[in-house]
Amino acid sequence: MNFRHIIDRRIKPILDTAVAKICGFSYKEIVMARKPHSGKLDSAQVTDLLFSRLDEHDLNLIISMASSDDQNTLDQADVADRKRIYLCLGAAYGIESILQKTGILGVLPPDDVHAMSRGWLAPAGGYYCADLVVDVLESVGVKIASLTTLLDFGCSSGRVARVLRAAYPHLNLFGCDPNNDAINWAARNLKGIEFSVSTQEPPLRQYSEGQFDLGFAISIWTHFGKNAFLRWFDEMFRIIRPGGYLLLTTHGVGSIAHYAHNGQRSVHQLQKNLKRLYVDGFHFSEEFGENGDWGVKHEEWGISFVTLEWMMSQLSHQWSLQSFRVAQNDGNQDVLLLQRK
Ligand SMILES: C[S@@+](CC[C@H](N)C(=O)[O-])C[C@H]1O[C@@H](n2cnc3c(N)ncnc32)[C@H](O)[C@@H]1O
Repeated sequence: MNFRHIIDRRIKPILDTAVAKICGFSYKEIVMARKPHSGKLDSAQVTDLLFSRLDEHDLNLIISMASSDDQNTLDQADVADRKRIYLCLGAAYGIESILQKTGILGVLPPDDVHAMSRGWLAPAGGYYCADLVVDVLESVGVKIASLTTLLDFGCSSGRVARVLRAAYPHLNLFGCDPNNDAINWAARNLKGIEFSVSTQEPPLRQYSEGQFDLGFAISIWTHFGKNAFLRWFDEMFRIIRPGGYLLLTTHGVGSIAHYAHNGQRSVHQLQKNLKRLYVDGFHFSEEFGENGDWGVKHEEWGISFVTLEWMMSQLSHQWSLQSFRVAQNDGNQDVLLLQRK
């Protein structure tokens, strides 16, 4: 334990308690005061569409193969999650008729390839994110059927793009990420999506001006330092057509509540994030250490927190805000839909 760590973990909590006694409030109380968002979506259109391709026979087949643990997971899930779990089970059991009808794939990235979660339920996160993208678009009147060319920016091994591929055959789907292994795996295993390894700095030379109707980036701007944060918006402005859209997620005050309640980050760290948000509107810190994020290393790739106020003060000359949902992504990240001017 280094000196800084001892101060943060041992000394500051004692001081905080003393301040609380004297002043009548504590920073911990402030950090914990906000209840986290549930992350539930208003609609699950992509999941509904894929699930609607199954019939009674398919569901009975899945149930007949389900272990008691799988059955318990199904019993405890809400309606949207239950459909996602059925789809995951159908794929995990490799039931050919279900794979064919839905267009979903049974393959999952191996443990040494970057993915946001593991195990047979891992694809559920991809369904949720695809639902999120479509829910936000449709809530402002943008029909997915009206879009043609989409980019999943920072797609990792393709968990979201593969769901959109299965649901909407009309889409031209592209995915890029600087993680070589993830992109190589995705390109080999997920047909019908054009994957490419991207550079860690703009421009993305493989894409031309105004090529995309929509770019989406789940958990990407949550990691950029301030300069990279802005440079990548300029690049999105170049490759998204005028009138096109960019959907992205960021960490904001809702994320502070999320992390405070699930204990994933220390209250002192969150206190600092909250203070910087209040003072500067933006806070970045190093996150990944020497080996980087699965080997992807950059001085401006860590963890960032940002206010909408700061963001729009930087972006409004190029982008107009169509939708802002606090902590909507999994009860953690804010979700923004921007329209390119
Ligand atoms: C938290 S993961 C999210 C992956 C994916 N969007 C998803 O939701 O499954 C962040 C991803 O961003 C990628 N990444 C790192 N630096 C990047 C950059 N400069 N541009 C685009 N993606 C980057 C990482 O390699 C990683 O795959």
